[in-house]
Amino acid sequence: MAQKVSVAVLYNQVGEDEYELMRKQAPKELDFKPEFRMDVATVEEEIMALVKGLRTAGFRAYAVNVNDRFDLLYQTLSRRSPDAVFNLIEFFNDDPRQEYMVAALYELLRIPYTGAPPYTLALCQRKASTKHLLLANGIRTPRFKVMEPGPLPRRHGLRYPLIVKPAREDASAGIDNASVVDSLDRMHERVQYVWKEFSQPALVEEFIDGRELNVSIIGNHPPKVLPIGEMVFTDLPPHLHNIVSFDAKWNPQHEAYHKMYTKCPAELPKKVEQRVRDIALAAYTLLGCRDYARVDIRLSKKHQIYVLEVNPNPDLTEGVAFMESAKKGGMSFSATLARIVEFALRRTPKALPERTTALRNHYR
Ligand SMILES: Nc1ncnc2c1ncn2[C@@H]1O[C@H](COP(=O)(O)OP(=O)(O)O)[C@@H](O)[C@H]1O
Ligand SMILES: [Mg+2]
Repeated sequence: MAQKVSVAVLYNQVGEDEYELMRKQAPKELDFKPEFRMDVATVEEEIMALVKGLRTAGFRAYAVNVNDRFDLLYQTLSRRSPDAVFNLIEFFNDDPRQEYMVAALYELLRIPYTGAPPYTLALCQRKASTKHLLLANGIRTPRFKVMEPGPLPRRHGLRYPLIVKPAREDASAGIDNASVVDSLDRMHERVQYVWKEFSQPALVEEFIDGRELNVSIIGNHPPKVLPIGEMVFTDLPPHLHNIVSFDAKWNPQHEAYHKMYTKCPAELPKKVEQRVRDIALAAYTLLGCRDYARVDIRLSKKHQIYVLEVNPNPDLTEGVAFMESAKKGGMSFSATLARIVEFALRRTPKALPERTTALRNHYR
């Protein structure tokens, strides 16, 4: 029997898992009725589910937590020589800005890996650069200003309400109810908050009041749009803005977590849906996404389509955004994972040049 293809699922988790900690604490008194489970899977459990899915698909899959250690990362790649890496590493040296460098290492070692190349990972993390590129290519994105630490402008030319976000974070970090502002003073306060808490510029954007869509895309030459998902805000209490705040996304002890839900497929007029699909695909291609990605979109009340951001290598948790769309598109969890690995395997480089082999042996 042919040997199974080996897949190393690489991830980086340092310290104790937050959901693990939450399990250990006494349950908090809640002043609302929870809709969803309070017990959320830990990172490790999610990784194991993914490994299981890959094994079901016939791969020899194993997980490695590189624990923010370069030696461990390097040894896994050089000694175990996996046929492919399933790349779930989102930061290195405690720094999300080094995410793309890890992909560059696979590249230098010529190991096929899933998902976006270094250039795309680096670019999409810089939301303002991404937006400039989108605009230059005729793709609408909310009007914005980047505010670097220093004197704050009194004039900015943007129309309230605005939303203030860290310019280089993801997963709703730094997004809460106070992110949406309707005066210069509030905006200044929030910009200063971002500088202080995130040590990076603030991105101030016009707030697009409307529906929010997640467009998941899979594949290459050509990529394919999966059924579109919608974040539904209608049950959110009136004191909360219609946004995917950090709490809404991650905190089961917060009301927003239970009052926001997703609907897939989203019900959209045919023409609007087609335009959303075309725009998401254009953004995917323009930014160099590969294998799988999710484009976050807002649809204004006048049906204007705004790309908020593009997420290369989005979350692959079963039942969440990307995987839910894949399921609605007729692909099981394990079949979707298998396809992603197959995209990577198709990029298997020919024999290594001598110099790279020598380097690998040196460190072995
Ligand atoms: N310009 C905007 N108008 C309306 N809502 C926004 C805007 N920008 C961000 N949001 C809200 O904040 C959430 C997180 O913003 P996003 O830019 O997608 O950053 P992240 O990388 O943290 O997901 C979005 O899902 C959306 O609900
Ligand atoms: Mg987003």
